[in-house]
Amino acid sequence: MITENSTNEDEVDETRATRCSGRCRNIPTLVWILVPIALIFIAQFLAAAFMPHTVKTDTEKNNSTLPPVSYLEEEKALHSHPIRPTLLSIRDFTNGELVDVHTKNYLYNQLKYATYTNQIKSEKGSVLLQSDKNDIKFGDSLTLKWSDDSYTGEVVKDDDIIALYCPSNEVNPKKFKDAATIAHVKATHRALSSCQGHHYNTDKVWHIPSFPIIREDSCEFRMYSHSKKSGGQDVGHHYTLTAKTDPISFSSSSKDPTGVHISVTGKVSEMVIQFATVDSGKPIVKYAKKNDLNKITKTDAEWTTAKGDSTTYAASDMCQPPATLTDPGHFSDPGHLHTVKLTNLQPRTEYEYRVGLSFGQGIKWSDTSFDFKTSSPPGVVPHSNSSNNDPVMTFLAVADLGVDGSKFRKDAGAANPNGVTKLITSIVNNQTIDSVHLIGDLAYAHGSGHLWNAFQEMIQPYASRVPTMVAVGNHEYDHNKTVGDGVKDPSGVTNPGGFHPNWGDGEFNSTGGECGLPVSKRFAAPDNGNGVFWYSFDQSLVHTTVISGEHNLTKGSPQHNWLKKDLASVNRTITPWLVVETHRPIYNSETHEMHKPVVQIGLQNSIEDLLHEYQVDLVIGGHYHSYFRSCDGLYEYKCDNGGPTYITVGTGGAPLDGNKSQVIDPHHYTMTFDKSKWGVGRASVFNSSMLYWEFVAVDHNKTLGSIIDKTWIIRYR
Ligand SMILES: [Fe+2]
Ligand SMILES: [Fe+2]
Repeated sequence: MITENSTNEDEVDETRATRCSGRCRNIPTLVWILVPIALIFIAQFLAAAFMPHTVKTDTEKNNSTLPPVSYLEEEKALHSHPIRPTLLSIRDFTNGELVDVHTKNYLYNQLKYATYTNQIKSEKGSVLLQSDKNDIKFGDSLTLKWSDDSYTGEVVKDDDIIALYCPSNEVNPKKFKDAATIAHVKATHRALSSCQGHHYNTDKVWHIPSFPIIREDSCEFRMYSHSKKSGGQDVGHHYTLTAKTDPISFSSSSKDPTGVHISVTGKVSEMVIQFATVDSGKPIVKYAKKNDLNKITKTDAEWTTAKGDSTTYAASDMCQPPATLTDPGHFSDPGHLHTVKLTNLQPRTEYEYRVGLSFGQGIKWSDTSFDFKTSSPPGVVPHSNSSNNDPVMTFLAVADLGVDGSKFRKDAGAANPNGVTKLITSIVNNQTIDSVHLIGDLAYAHGSGHLWNAFQEMIQPYASRVPTMVAVGNHEYDHNKTVGDGVKDPSGVTNPGGFHPNWGDGEFNSTGGECGLPVSKRFAAPDNGNGVFWYSFDQSLVHTTVISGEHNLTKGSPQHNWLKKDLASVNRTITPWLVVETHRPIYNSETHEMHKPVVQIGLQNSIEDLLHEYQVDLVIGGHYHSYFRSCDGLYEYKCDNGGPTYITVGTGGAPLDGNKSQVIDPHHYTMTFDKSKWGVGRASVFNSSMLYWEFVAVDHNKTLGSIIDKTWIIRYR
């Protein structure tokens, strides 16, 4: 059965340990001979186990319950990452938790090294596996049902598996998209039942509430019966195909765009629209002023069209494993990633738009239409707001989001990106928001491409309506310095491994080898810095500068030079408010034991003088999964000393730091510190002198959240 291996191994280890200690006590003279020999063996074992790219022996390969050592090592370097769910959000049968695709998924490894019989053995009376739909779209529910073999009497066991194959004619049984034992399926159902308050039948049924994005024409589910390989010898795992569904195809609506989101270029007359599709084609967007809300349809003449470009990426475009692996759970085809720039937009005007693909003969438009509102041009205080109390510009800022595979978790639990998404969407739907700033640690995909797709689907409700600007965090950029490939680095860093300062405390390796490629392909940024890695933009009275704490910021570095130039170029008469955003905080009230404050100190040494010199008002970051606001004017650890207000909003949904033992007490410069609430920061600019800052926490009783921190930032200009 499923738990046999681990239990047996534990018992064997315990027996060996007991036996060894007994001998050592009874024959002390042998200690001097045996201990050095044992130490040599241990040293050799450790060297072999922890050496990268060690060729595994057959015995090691067959020991399929152990995850690869490199992943375990990598995992040690991570902190507070959300669980990275499998494609179908499968639950562990031992504890009901989501299976982490990287670290706790023994089944993938077991299937990787198993042998297969890939033909259904019995024609008549075989096991049946059926899906309730054979044509679906992404987000649809799907229910599988199966029955035992009525002819042979063979029953489906808890350690038999159901696996998803796309395309449906995939011949290699090891190339599944996701797989679950029957025990996993039951655990997944139990979790759904308890979280949603519904009762799901766990008897020979798998209900999948939301089918994920898959860039293939069709899929099928297959059931395999599990057995030991040969005549009672426990030497491996064998799987025999017992049933499969008919092919499940994706209807035309599944070919609709996914991950629709917009971003600013820095010019108020422009907006960039991005989306992804299964099909290739020339991307096109039609847009029109939303000045007649009663008109359901517009004539062709009322729409303006704009064409754009497409890109994509392969596993081999990234820097190192696991991102470069095409094994189940790792790389997944992002589809065609389209970018279209709209021009000649008018300020403070609502637009409606549809995205589409031009195929030559015609255009396939999205079924859904979207809308956005342009901001005020830099420097302009809108007349409509000059006589009332509305802010002239408002932006939301948050970091450390993640993707909640447990869409059906009833309450907060360990992670809550969906709660934060709902909050942001509610605010965006009820208030004029000029932009949303996601300051790094976005999908925590770590080389699992399906999580990027899920992340972009998650944020679409607001990101398709409000310019959503991203920064890179440690979970977007970087690669290991010893095996990195600087040539592939999309940020243009040419030395292998990117930025690894000696004060970095081994902290700069958390992306699973993605090295910034997915984020740079999937999101756009103004073309005035270095792609999504560092850039700046103006909206109304605010200049926002986004930088990367994952790249060199020390004096003389390209990014430091650019930052100095950018800050120096700001005309404070036009954009009096100057905001700098970086994922890693420069001041914070929290320190993880393994990090120590060396990174903060390193960043202070690198850029604090610049922030002071150019009178930056607000510095917003994340990385620590908590909320923090410093005193105003913080510079060289002194309040009211001519520096900015520092804020940490690592509260976007990733597990909070509330229970961490390595959290230390707030400092003298701490005004507010909260490590127990998810939420977003909201900055409302009223004029050149007054900015109102709030932390809006997720509150299940209030769709617009609860304000748990607020302050005026006043500048006499
Ligand atoms: Fe984070
Ligand atoms: Fe981080």
